[in-house]
Amino acid sequence: MCGIMGYVGHRSALPILLDGLRRLEYRGYDSAGVAVLNDGHIEVRKTAGKLAQLTEITSGPGLLHGTVGIGHTRWATHGLPTDANAHPHSDCGGRVVVIHNGIIENFLPLKEELQARGHTFRSDTDTEVIAHLIEEELYEARSPSVPLEEAVRRAVQHTRGAYAIVVLCSDQPDRIVAVRQISPLIIGLGKGETILASDIPALLSHTRDVLVIEDGEMAVMTASGATVERLDGATVAKQPLRITWDAEMAEKGGYPHFMLKEIHEQPRALQETMMGRLDAPGGAPELDGVSYSPEFVRGLRKLWITACGTAYHAGLVGRWVVEHWAKVPVEPELASELRYRDALIDPQTLTVAISQSGETADTLAAAREARKRGTRLAAITNVVGSTLSREADDVLYVRAGPEIAVASSKAYITMLVALQMLALDLAVRRGAVTPPQTAHIIQAMKALPGKAQEVLLRESEVASLAARLADREHMFFIGRGLDYAVAQEGSLKLKEISYLHSEALAAGELKHGTLALVTPGVPVFALVTQRHVYEKTLSNIQEVKARGGLVIAVAYDRDTEITKHAEVVLRIPDTLDDLAPVLAIIPLQLFAYHVARERGNDIDQPRNLAKSVTVE
Ligand code: F6R
Repeated sequence: MCGIMGYVGHRSALPILLDGLRRLEYRGYDSAGVAVLNDGHIEVRKTAGKLAQLTEITSGPGLLHGTVGIGHTRWATHGLPTDANAHPHSDCGGRVVVIHNGIIENFLPLKEELQARGHTFRSDTDTEVIAHLIEEELYEARSPSVPLEEAVRRAVQHTRGAYAIVVLCSDQPDRIVAVRQISPLIIGLGKGETILASDIPALLSHTRDVLVIEDGEMAVMTASGATVERLDGATVAKQPLRITWDAEMAEKGGYPHFMLKEIHEQPRALQETMMGRLDAPGGAPELDGVSYSPEFVRGLRKLWITACGTAYHAGLVGRWVVEHWAKVPVEPELASELRYRDALIDPQTLTVAISQSGETADTLAAAREARKRGTRLAAITNVVGSTLSREADDVLYVRAGPEIAVASSKAYITMLVALQMLALDLAVRRGAVTPPQTAHIIQAMKALPGKAQEVLLRESEVASLAARLADREHMFFIGRGLDYAVAQEGSLKLKEISYLHSEALAAGELKHGTLALVTPGVPVFALVTQRHVYEKTLSNIQEVKARGGLVIAVAYDRDTEITKHAEVVLRIPDTLDDLAPVLAIIPLQLFAYHVARERGNDIDQPRNLAKSVTVE
């Protein structure tokens, strides 16, 4: 994530940048900075912490007369949230400044090459390489008359990854150059001023006419407008769009609720979580932040997984893939239970603590308790620099970006792929999978973002089902193996935002008691993605049907048999059974969302709940 702003025009740039950053703070808020052109020099101010701190260090007349500037609010991915790692980043000479949203996958080799050529780095970020690459194009071995846009075009050709990059150069003060690859970039066209932002809300108080920059495009902004071309040099004829949303809708990117926005952000979150980690020629994942030794992995006797709520449900999926691929026994335990158990945790174990926030009190306490008993601690978290990440030996960040809705969606789905990557890493290191098996799994994982997008396109079917069932009082979710893990998360989502009673059961358990609650018309969601138990689950579906229950299946597109058994089928694209949870949860998230909406509930802030639970 991260929020970016740029201004070139006739007004003082600083207040416009700060106002835009405030509206973009939902995209990241661990550090912030601005760069303003002042009398031919670039002045940079940046700081760790929230925007209020940046406002404090920029107050006073110093920066106020500059009419060209850029600004950034950060969500750390590479490097802790410190002053030095805050954007903008400069070249060696302080003539070029860069802000960036995204990830430069190959920044390490680029950094080493640039250092070998004499460049001095001041941060741990991936972004800083861009400033130095542009510096080389502008000032070294080339004529200084290279236009900034040409230097940026040449520089980004060396990079791989996702970005929206914005560049300002003191020697070419009339323009700002911006390029986009995956990360969003919008340009607003005002009267005698041009404004750039990651998202529309930051522009709306200045203009409603915008250019949406697409992947592979570069924009050159001046006070009189913007020209857009493709990075390969082809010109682009772009018509401005007129935005009609009101301000509140715009904050949510046009979605009525943050939760729906975050559900729709899942394909990108998946892509970013895998980015640069599944590209090694040998096939093994490259998990930045994970440094356990080969001897430790070979001697590993058991994994503990600990977490709360949705993160715990992700852990249940983790158990399955670690046992199946890496052949290491796994015990998942709720954090609030683990810390009071006489758990047999020893130095030959790895404890994986999962937490979106990295601040959940129960999870921190369980992780600390496990550590006291000698385990190695690995954290899976979304927040760089969180308490959990600082205390762990290994940290795998999920890169979901800030999650605002209390009910977790994109953090959960990215935890699933993080756990799959960890499981595959252990499996490869322990020789439990062959290179062709690894390649097959990686190929299927890389297809997940596109398939998640396909599931989202089917939202209207889920919304109609929700409208039909929104007045019910009880619902059940059943499944076996990984389907049971997803059933538990689907049931929790429904409870927390719709306030309906729901319960998830291992499908085979239904007949041992809870079947007594299945009466005519009671909705029972049956997940049937796991081939090895498919027929067994069909038998459980029959038990439900025999009592008049309404069966709604979540099944693959290829499954033609299921229509004979279920009244409604919510479809997901075919994938490996081990990866199915990533797709199967999406219709259930959408169902919970639409039921809650039908019932008129406060979806983003459900009653009695909080986003980060820092009490026991
Ligand atoms: C449910 C939900 C909670 C959290 C739980 C742990 O949608 O969000 O169940 O998953 O409170 O929070 P983190 O992951 O921050 O430790």
